[in-house]
Amino acid sequence: MKDILAELEDRRATARQGGGARRIDAQHAKGKLTARERVELLLDEGSFEEFDMFMAHRCTDFGMEKDRPSGDGVVTGWGTVNGRQVYVFSQDFTVFGGSLSETHAQKICKIMDMALQNGAPVIGINDSGGARIQEGVASLAGYAEVFQRNIMASGVVPQISLIMGPCAGGAVYSPAMTDFIFMVKDSSYMFVTGPDVVKTVTNEVVTAEELGGAGTHTKKSSVADGAYENDVEALAETRRLIDFLPLSNRERAPTRPFFDDPARIENSLDTLIPDNPNQPYDMKELILKLADEGDFFEIQRDFAGNVITGFIRIEGRSVGVVANQPTVLAGCLDIDSSRKAARFVRFCDAFEIPILTLVDVPGFLPGTSQEYGGVIKHGAKLLFAYGEATVPKVTVITRKAYGGAYDVMASKHLRGDFNYAWPTAEIAVMGAKGATEIIYRGKTAEEIAERTKEYESRFANPFVAAEKGFIDEVIMPHSTRRRVARAFASLRSKKLSNPWKKHDNIPL
Ligand code: HXC
Repeated sequence: MKDILAELEDRRATARQGGGARRIDAQHAKGKLTARERVELLLDEGSFEEFDMFMAHRCTDFGMEKDRPSGDGVVTGWGTVNGRQVYVFSQDFTVFGGSLSETHAQKICKIMDMALQNGAPVIGINDSGGARIQEGVASLAGYAEVFQRNIMASGVVPQISLIMGPCAGGAVYSPAMTDFIFMVKDSSYMFVTGPDVVKTVTNEVVTAEELGGAGTHTKKSSVADGAYENDVEALAETRRLIDFLPLSNRERAPTRPFFDDPARIENSLDTLIPDNPNQPYDMKELILKLADEGDFFEIQRDFAGNVITGFIRIEGRSVGVVANQPTVLAGCLDIDSSRKAARFVRFCDAFEIPILTLVDVPGFLPGTSQEYGGVIKHGAKLLFAYGEATVPKVTVITRKAYGGAYDVMASKHLRGDFNYAWPTAEIAVMGAKGATEIIYRGKTAEEIAERTKEYESRFANPFVAAEKGFIDEVIMPHSTRRRVARAFASLRSKKLSNPWKKHDNIPL
């Protein structure tokens, strides 16, 4: 009996060694942790339960039958993050470069199936040379099996991808279909075709980092939602994100203990809006002052800064925030910000996370690049996302809410539950000057200036909208946290559903 136990320990020890000490050292030399070290840091200490530690590939081509390492290049299983269950797979670059074989894919699929059945998030740690070249089409089939599960799991359990090494070719499409992608600066990249192919086909010379590094995907393409300095930071931030999310669409996000008075008065907010309506101010200040303990988890911080998206808690409960940012492009909506906010709104709605919308929007950004780029369709995504969302929606207009953008930003007409405005709000079809220039076309500059003043005093306020019931209440800025907290508290049993349909046809 003792021998049998010792043999199990031996087999385990060998499996834990992955591709061996030399390759582990090479991994560390690149500033990367190993697959198992990552799992250890991601999960609560001692909580990891591994599956399929001894699974090995079945390939017999290219002499592969002589090299069948236990685990086949991916560590899979489940554990907890702050006591809550998650499933995880972590590709082991030290075993055949973390490449995906038929059995490697089967291991991933097994935990994805369990996650879907048992209602818990899937966290995928990607560090792989792509399809296992020796296995050919069997490997491609494995990818497709994973893709199909990503699609089925979408909107059912949260899916988070960490890119911690190479992720190239068709392999990128699994992370692309998950809810959030986090990358590590300088050691990870994602692209459909690498620099060599790019050079051959388009004659462009580009490094892997320039083509698909963390900077590229968080600032230019918006494929990724966050970039972190190293593996440790990315894993710690993933734990922080998980705390904001429900385990599945059958559950609510957890309520965390809080030590911040929901009725906290913030007198500084009374002077947040500058006297000059064209002067920007930082909307993040408002978000931080509304949040429990000023804790804000921002999503896509480095992309389309004219809209801010992320999670806060109010009375310990998760709230998704979407806010125009006057310091970037005057807070205009454009193609990028509409796409960014629309995807975020849909995530919140899919997982029953209430949405707080903070509005200061002068309209949609004009220009040929916007129109040629299809701002009509992209803007419609945000409109559609807000209009179909059935979660509690609380909106606060701090300053401008002009034109179509007023409608889009979770207005009353899109089933906003509480639509508040500060006394500084200007809710109108457009800015006063533009409006008077159209109505009084041909008049002298002095007349226009005078009429502009008239228009401002008539329309540059929240009261016309409040008279019509489009604004439920004009509130004092200093009491915004209390008002918003009470609004969300009153909506905890909200029930709203959309007409039956197979699925909608959001303007993609
Ligand atoms: C099998 C692979 C592999 C692969 C790497 N290895 N990629 N084995 N299949 N796809 C092995 C190497 O042979 C090596 O084994 C070990 O992993 C580490 O690789 P290195 O090249 O030494 O590492 P590094 O210099 O860091 O380069 C990493 C790399 C490079 C850039 C990922 O390995 C690479 O270009 N690999 C091939 C990438 C590729 O063409 N993949 C298929 C793409 S097609 P030893 O024994 O020496 O340690 C694809 C389609 C997916 O993915 C479609 C889905 C629908």
